[in-house]
Amino acid sequence: MKKYFVFFIFFAALGSCTYDSKSLSDGPPEDCVPETVTFTKDIQPLMNTYCTGCHGNTFPSAGLSLVTYAQVRDATENGNLLVRTQLPSSNPQSMPPSAGLSDCKNEILQAWVAQGFVEN
Ligand code: HEC
Repeated sequence: MKKYFVFFIFFAALGSCTYDSKSLSDGPPEDCVPETVTFTKDIQPLMNTYCTGCHGNTFPSAGLSLVTYAQVRDATENGNLLVRTQLPSSNPQSMPPSAGLSDCKNEILQAWVAQGFVEN
């Protein structure tokens, strides 16, 4: 009887291992990108956390302000915003500097572009 119990513990532990390694798989989690990406809900908070410290309205770095909807849309559409955020942290041109954005954050930005720059 005791033997069976040990077996049970062994398989229970094995099961939890498999589960753990699954959550550590490569790439961003599938639910990373919300169904509808909007400027107000998703993009603006992202800019405020990672960008507007330097690209704010007062003395913006490179003369690029990323505060309003129009500013961020134009920089994404006509500028190189997505190029810079996707550079590896080792590249001196990466944005934010020496960091870049995570795959998940870049996917959210790409989805915003693909969905046509939804504002609200
Ligand atoms: C610590 C300050 C700092 C932060 C934070 C920062 N940047 Fe920058 N950014 C700069 C500086 C300085 C430059 C000009 C030098 C250069 O081109 O690399 C620049 C340049 C850029 C340019 C090129 C502008 C042009 O006209 O060529 C883009 C696009 C850009 N940043 C986007 C972003 C985005 C998007 C974020 C947030 C994800 C961000 N930056 C965060 C300092 C910053």
